[in-house]
Order: sequence, then C-alpha cells, then structure tokens
Amino acid sequence: SSIAKNATSSLGRTIKTVTIIGGGLMGSGIAQVAAESNHKVILVDQKQEFLDKSLNIIQTSLKRVIKKKFDKDQQGGEKYLNDVNGRIQTSLNLEESLQSTDLVIEAIVENLGIKQKLFKQIDQIAPKHTILTSNTSSLPITEIVQDVKRQDKVGGLHFFNPVPVMKLLEVIRTSSTSDETFQTLLAFGKALGKTTVSCKDTPGFIVNRLLVPYMIEAIHMIERGDATPEDIDTAMKLGAGYPMGPIELLDYVGLDTSKYIVDGWKKRFPDDASFKTSELLNKIVGEGKFGKKTGAGFYKYSK
Ligand code: 3HC
Repeated sequence: SSIAKNATSSLGRTIKTVTIIGGGLMGSGIAQVAAESNHKVILVDQKQEFLDKSLNIIQTSLKRVIKKKFDKDQQGGEKYLNDVNGRIQTSLNLEESLQSTDLVIEAIVENLGIKQKLFKQIDQIAPKHTILTSNTSSLPITEIVQDVKRQDKVGGLHFFNPVPVMKLLEVIRTSSTSDETFQTLLAFGKALGKTTVSCKDTPGFIVNRLLVPYMIEAIHMIERGDATPEDIDTAMKLGAGYPMGPIELLDYVGLDTSKYIVDGWKKRFPDDASFKTSELLNKIVGEGKFGKKTGAGFYKYSK
C-alpha cells in the first residue's frame, strides 16, 4: 500500500554525495551512473594514471549514452556531458575524499586483507552518518567490515558489468545492517535507475551464485570434449535467450576474476559440489590470457 511505501521511504536518508574507491571498470561505471543521476561523485584511486584511465572509460561510455539520448540535439548532448562531468571529482587523497560524503562504495581488488584494512581506515575518517558499502563479487561483506565500528551502517552494493547498461543492483544486508541503512541503499539504487533485489550475505549473492557454477560447467564441457566453445555459446544464446553465451561471458567478465572467484569459494567451501575449479581455466589464465581486456581468452580479440 502507499502508506507502507511512504513509511519505508521516510526511514531512509537521501544520498547526495558518493565516494567511490577504486577507479577500475566497475568503479568508473558506478561513478558514471551516480553522476548521471545527479549525485556528487568523488572517485578515489592511488595513482593519477589510474584516475586518468577511469575518466577515459567514463567519457567513452558517456558518448554512447549521449548518442542515444541526444541523437539530433548536439547542444543538449554537450550540456549533458558538461553537467555530468561537473559532478565527478577525482582524488588521490582518501581522507579528503571522505570529509563530507554520505555513502562510500568500495570497488578495489578482490583481496580480503586489503579491503579489511581499507574499511577500518574509512570508518575512522568518514562522518558518523556515512554508510560504508562494498561492490565485492565474491567475498563476505561481514568479513570485509569486521573491524568497522558502525556495524548498523554497512552493506553490499553489487553492480554488473557494463554498469551503465545492466539494470540490476544487488543490495546486501548483513545481520547488523539497520533498516534505515537498508532502505537508504534501496532508495539509492532506485535513484540510479536500477532495479534492486536483496540477498543475504551469502557467496556470490544471487547472480554470481548461479552464473559462476554455470560458466565453470561450460568450461568442463570443453575439457570433456562434449562441444566446442562456439557451439556452447550459440546454444545458450539461441536456446536459452542469453545475450552472451557462457564462454563469451567469461572472456567479457575476465578470466582472472572468474578464476579468483572459484578458487576462493573452493577453498572456503571444499565440500560444496557447485563450487568447482577448472584445469583449463587455470592453464589459460597462467598464459596471461585474461579475456577481452588482454586481447585473448577462450577467443581472440582485435583491439
Ligand atoms: N556504456 C554505455 N552504453 C553501453 C556500453 C557501455 N559500456 N556497452 C554497451 N552499451 C550500450 C550500447 O550503446 C547499445 O545501446 P543501444 O542498443 O541502445 O544502441 C547497447 O548497450 C547494446 O550494446 P551493443 O549493441 O554494443 O552490444 P550488445 O547488444 O551485444 O550488448 C551487452 C552488449 C549489453 C554487454 C550484452 O551483450 C549483455 O547484456 N551481455 C551480458 C552481460 C552480463 O551478463 N553481465 C554480467 C556479468 S556478471 C558481473 O558483472 C558480476 C561481477 O561480479 C563478475
């Protein structure tokens, strides 16, 4: 009912300023969609060259957005670009970037120790009201934030690649996340134009829990000689309606990332049959082929 809706929305706070830590593919995409939806964005990384690369990713993607949104309106497109860029600030200084932020989204490397240290630091610097979230794809939020004092103001915001295109946002609450924090995160997702789903703090949340074992099984089909990569991809596109087949998608997501996820799960849950590793995946990653981003994976790509 509308009364219930009003009651829940009044429980959450409105996010105005977002600090995004880590300017990789995911961080850049998140910065872009946040700025496009009128948020003030501060994008933080450790080196200027990383930030320059992030801004490049954002500009390339914004051009695609503008081409669609402002097809015959060049002036409108330019104004949009200027407005969005005007809302994105970059920073090499973590402390400064947290001074007056409402929400932190961490999107750095998938390394538990590094994330834990970072969150402890953020917790000490950020204003009291600031909500701290991670975009991790496979690590438990509860462990990432174990040294954070504001346990009621933590959560997970899991985006999908390419962030400007994929309509989903997974909102993860730990057992300590307050209702206010959770409602604020749901409202933030809605403000970004995403559809939100929520999931407990479980391995892979919803999408990766289903997608990763499926993609790994596709590699096992190749290993067993059941079918070729091309036929597996064609089959899932035309037979199941997926926009990309599993092998294509592995190359797109990154084989290094995928290997990291399955290795981590296998180690954590050795008895769970759905978490398998793959010799073929290990071999390809060992050769430095990480998929589309390196020009080769299961397939070859021209740059
Ligand atoms: N920025 C802005 N717009 C973009 C874009 C980007 N980076 N990439 C694509 N687009 C737009 C294009 O402009 C185009 O717009 P239009 O159709 O309105 O003209 C539209 O998206 C489609 O793009 P393309 O025509 O270039 O190509 P496709 O039709 O093949 O779509 C795709 C590309 C959207 C990537 C589609 O293939 C797809 O949905 N693939 C599956 C992606 C997926 O499953 N992602 C999730 C991976 S799991 C994950 O991320 C979780 C992590 O934790 C591992």
